[in-house]
Amino acid sequence: MERLDKYLASRGVGTRKEVQKLIKSGAVTADGAVCKTIDRKIDPDNTVVLVNGQAVGEKYIYIMMNKPAGVVSATEDKRDKTVIDILPDQLKRRGLFPAGRLDKDTEGLLIITNDGELAHRMLSPKKHVEKRYVATVDGEINDDIIKRFERGIELSDGYKCMPAKLELMTKNDNGIGTVTICEGKFHQVKRMFSACGLNIVHLQRISIGNLYLDSNLPIGDCKTLTNLEILQVFIGNIH
Ligand code: URA
Repeated sequence: MERLDKYLASRGVGTRKEVQKLIKSGAVTADGAVCKTIDRKIDPDNTVVLVNGQAVGEKYIYIMMNKPAGVVSATEDKRDKTVIDILPDQLKRRGLFPAGRLDKDTEGLLIITNDGELAHRMLSPKKHVEKRYVATVDGEINDDIIKRFERGIELSDGYKCMPAKLELMTKNDNGIGTVTICEGKFHQVKRMFSACGLNIVHLQRISIGNLYLDSNLPIGDCKTLTNLEILQVFIGNIH
């Protein structure tokens, strides 16, 4: 059982104060009856709660963003625009954060959610969730580099990466590769290439687990994912 005001606030209807005002105004019904008692206990799974006749949304929201370069993966920042700042108004609600980070200059698949538990599971090194990137580098990706990725690259600070898969994107361009890693160290892909003497000139994340960036989603745009779709992040890994 959950207090009505807490239930509404946790589903993004407003702050605790705002929803209490709404309840007192008579805008909220529980199973068809107006309820003006803010601490009324409801069973969240078996009560139909409406605000001004509208169904209340799910507790958690999962947003796929095609992150553009130039915005930071944070909830707030003094200098730069954040991925939360560029969300469309209808998706903005309290408690949203990016689940994992992409560098400011990296583009592609980013999940934004208010579900801390899912984000934790997704980012946990123990879960070995695969992240796949398309990297354009300033030199040639040769067999030796591919093998070094396979064995596990040693970064400049001595950290030994887990084995990673590096493949050429197309046969006739050895400057673009897809990289699959299941860790998430700071600047990891850039540092892996840098250990092999190559610099990344463009980096885009294309998948997390079995969840792929929607190729119809323009850079900078977002779409919501269903509970089933987000579970794709836990399907498929290289170990
Ligand atoms: N690795 C990087 O170097 N940068 C990213 O944004 C993601 C992975």
